[in-house]
Amino acid sequence: MSSPTANPTNRFLYAACQHGAEQVLKQALCEPAGPFRLAYSAKGFLTFKSNMSTPIWSRALIEHPLVRSRGTVLERIEGTESGPMVEQILASYQSLDWEVLHVWQRDTAQPGWNGFEPGVSLLALSIAEQLRSALRKQNDGREVHAGGLSRENPKTPANSLSVEPSDHASENEPAEESADESAEESAEINVKHSEPLKRSEPMSEGVAPGAKILEVIIDEPNRWWIAAKYAQKSYDFWPGGVPDLFFPDEVISRAYYKIAEAFSWGGIQLRPGEKVVEIGASPGGACQWLLDRGTKVTGIDPAEMDERIVNHPNFTHWRNRSREVKRRAFQGFRVLVCDANVTPNYTLDTVEAIVMYPTSRFRLLVLTMKLPDWEHAQKIPEHLERVKSWGFESVEARQLGHNRREYCLLARRRVSQRHSS
Ligand SMILES: C[S@@+](CC[C@H](N)C(=O)[O-])C[C@H]1O[C@@H](n2cnc3c(N)ncnc32)[C@H](O)[C@@H]1O
Repeated sequence: MSSPTANPTNRFLYAACQHGAEQVLKQALCEPAGPFRLAYSAKGFLTFKSNMSTPIWSRALIEHPLVRSRGTVLERIEGTESGPMVEQILASYQSLDWEVLHVWQRDTAQPGWNGFEPGVSLLALSIAEQLRSALRKQNDGREVHAGGLSRENPKTPANSLSVEPSDHASENEPAEESADESAEESAEINVKHSEPLKRSEPMSEGVAPGAKILEVIIDEPNRWWIAAKYAQKSYDFWPGGVPDLFFPDEVISRAYYKIAEAFSWGGIQLRPGEKVVEIGASPGGACQWLLDRGTKVTGIDPAEMDERIVNHPNFTHWRNRSREVKRRAFQGFRVLVCDANVTPNYTLDTVEAIVMYPTSRFRLLVLTMKLPDWEHAQKIPEHLERVKSWGFESVEARQLGHNRREYCLLARRRVSQRHSS
């Protein structure tokens, strides 16, 4: 691939996703179903060749609910030391008109696996720091962000990390995925996860809508991809597509991360005092996040709630299955969250019966849609159409960084209205 300064167009795009989602994306995006040909494939990171040459700062980026991050590929660089690789990046790209530089590493495991959460790694922090200081030496003050949600201790010194590929066998899920351009085995990077950090609000979004973002994507410690993205959606502004959120020391369940990310993705803020109902609320991670926002939460679940939630003055437990609750009881709520571990159809049937009941006035639905298998992701468009038919103007799907084999469906309508049927 030639340098972008020599050739300001390119034919390669990348898509990053959760481990396991690659096959669905390949099928959806590659010929004959889609417009691309697969160029490179690693766990959680794919590149595609397009027949059309596009500008570096193209708005035509890959869109799919399972795509966590996307952009145009500029080149792949390899080396044994990070220093020369950093110099190479500056030599080729410092003159390019990017505004922010993102550094992030493709996932090393599935979210929740053995404590792994997607987001910043020590290696990404180290490389970001090296790039930042190299830029500062040349009086270049552009921002460098190492990405995503930190479950690691950022105080840990990381500058001395080597970029040698690790040769230990991975403890993570079985390695998969051939590389069309490189048949090398995937070398896992040993990343330790320590205490979650304390803040629970997003850090600065950093850049204005439409920003030009240069990306350094760590595929392997010794193999980085340089990409460019013309940021358009909220997640384009997050390195690797995972927002900068800090969490309390103790979260009751991973659902805390999921709901925090869902609201960040949607750019939605809840008013203190807002009445929220959650179906599938036990043990209470999502309720914890909602209560932390000052909302009044009703959790529906036949299972026991964590005692910190049960004893919260703003929490009510309806210890039932959702279908046992009278539809009229939902009258006072405008926000419905559902995280029940049931099939997508069961979720949609349940929520439809509630939302379409004549006394219901829901304005916001945040549904975790569990995928019985990855192939089920093909039904996402049907799910969206069905929710739209309930009168929601904006209905979107995204596999959040913290989702496992599931995705988040966000539906909004401006004014709650009485349904005609
Ligand atoms: C993934 S857990 C929910 C985690 C929870 N949202 C949290 O924040 O910790 C799924 C829950 O769905 C509940 N569930 C399954 N079917 C349900 C139904 N029909 N009505 C209510 N809860 C249900 C289960 O009892 C289980 O506690």
